[in-house]
Amino acid sequence: MCGIVAYIGHREAYPLIIKGLKRLEYRGYDSAGVALLTDTGLNVYKKKGKVSDLEQSLGEEQLSSHIGIGHTRWATHGEPNDRNAHPHYSHTQKLAIIHNGIIENYGAIKLNLQNKGYAFHSDTDSEVFVNFIEDIQKETYCSLEEAVRLAMQEVVGAYAIVLINREEPGTLIAARKGSPLVIGVGEGEYFFASDATPIIEYTNEVIYLDDFQIAVVREGELTVKNIENIVLSPYIQHIELELEAIEKGGYEHFMLKEIFEQPRSVKDCFRGRVNADEGHLVLGGLREYLDDIAKSQRIVIVACGTSWHAGLVAEYVFEELARIPVEVEYASEFRYRNPIIKEGDVVIAISQSGETMDTLAAIELAKSKGAIILGVCNAVGSSIPRTTHAGAYTHAGPEIGVASTKAFTAQVSVLTLMAIAVARRKGILHEDTFRRFLFELERIPEKIEKVLKNAEKIKEISALFSEARNFIYLGRGLNFPVALEGALKLKEISYIHAEGYPAAEMKHGPIALIDEDMPVVFIATRDQSYEKIVSNIQEVKARKGKVIAVVTEGDKLIPTMADHVIEIPITHEVLTPLLSVIPLQLLSYHIAVMRGCNVDQPRNLAKSVTVE
Ligand code: F6R
Repeated sequence: MCGIVAYIGHREAYPLIIKGLKRLEYRGYDSAGVALLTDTGLNVYKKKGKVSDLEQSLGEEQLSSHIGIGHTRWATHGEPNDRNAHPHYSHTQKLAIIHNGIIENYGAIKLNLQNKGYAFHSDTDSEVFVNFIEDIQKETYCSLEEAVRLAMQEVVGAYAIVLINREEPGTLIAARKGSPLVIGVGEGEYFFASDATPIIEYTNEVIYLDDFQIAVVREGELTVKNIENIVLSPYIQHIELELEAIEKGGYEHFMLKEIFEQPRSVKDCFRGRVNADEGHLVLGGLREYLDDIAKSQRIVIVACGTSWHAGLVAEYVFEELARIPVEVEYASEFRYRNPIIKEGDVVIAISQSGETMDTLAAIELAKSKGAIILGVCNAVGSSIPRTTHAGAYTHAGPEIGVASTKAFTAQVSVLTLMAIAVARRKGILHEDTFRRFLFELERIPEKIEKVLKNAEKIKEISALFSEARNFIYLGRGLNFPVALEGALKLKEISYIHAEGYPAAEMKHGPIALIDEDMPVVFIATRDQSYEKIVSNIQEVKARKGKVIAVVTEGDKLIPTMADHVIEIPITHEVLTPLLSVIPLQLLSYHIAVMRGCNVDQPRNLAKSVTVE
């Protein structure tokens, strides 16, 4: 949430920061701003709206500078407007700050500063933070980085900050606790950003700042310290991210590109892990923990949103194959209960961004109770994989569209591999069944390709329902989480109200909603509950509901009842969600486009939810 970019070096800072902010707009896009140190002093430019609105408003301004900071905001404290946009000056305008996160005790600090005569020009916690730093410096006559260090000992909450100082034109200071911050290390230049996407065009050498660390670039030299003031030797990591992975590549939207990338992203996820010919399934990151998982009495999965839906699919798969009881928890609920976690319990945290605050906090809680924590994450080097004991990356590549698509199929793929590996380790998966799984897994990418060939038909169906006000999604078994995911995709990008339900639950309430205006999406593939879901379809048709059914190819029965049918190839029942979710992604995408919605940046949302 919120994207930050900063630069110090020999290049022009302004265009570089604007480009970087556009790459980070998925993190928030309600206002944007930059602060540049120029010959005329420390100048802040900010505006409600997107980064392009800021750019347009600046027009021909003279913005030449080699040091600057920029921010794209997802509002927490204070409505989105020019005043609350970042950067924020300190009251003397000596300092400017960009901040991603939330300062929880900002109220008390603000009151204290107000009593000392400080005036505030925004409703944000960030403006309080920068004034607090300035006040400490004034009171103690210390250096700016020392003031930052002392402030960090007082503030409660989460932050990634970068500060620029009018009185030290060759200096940038950054710090982090709980919100991500990456430093790009170039030749005599440094880049700061919320993730590596604004950086990789210039350098692949990066440092992931850890919590309670402070980075100072002064006269071309980088120093990293911890909160105890000890100078550290940070690990410079080489990252492999390609520029084309974060560009639209001819697609109208990132979301569409990412839907169509799924044959490749799932293949990438299996690469080096699945080999049907040799009968191999290897999850290197989990090797040391496989015995612990196999011996565990239960598995708890914590996640949010789409990742939580992937967790629900995993519940079915783990229980079916590995015969270990699984509980799937919203991370936000789990952390605020007093959950019963025993030593040796296995907790799997699923997260695309690897930065979701609730999931991170749930991990910390489970860790403190002695659980083994495993991560299933997409963003390499993000906070969650660095906090867990072990894990497996999903390798889906950067997901820029705010609505998660390829991350979901990659999460389900990894979790399925984990369940198979654990079942093997327990000795309860017969060699033939194991081989059949591997064979089927290797065919999933080409089967996704086949589903994507239906895109035109799905677009035509979408046109018939783009004006609908409500939608119901129904599925049973493994397709129930898929129904939830389909409903979430639709509501978040098209703003149509949609509900996902287990199909059998319909008669316990939602059936009252069915009339001739209600589209009902059934995920009704050939599986053990096929006959039951056929009955559910009839119940909806009897009440004149409009049925869109996702079925297994060759199905002869459901097409005689449903208004519209989308076929997916046959696969092993356990792997069905990897195919059945694809038509639902396309359906919501096309409906949202037809309604004129901004599918990549839906209102009120942000990709990486680093607040509670
Ligand atoms: C929905 C969506 C969100 C995320 C959720 C968790 O399309 O993207 O529901 O799934 O915010 O995010 P991660 O997976 O990054 O922890």
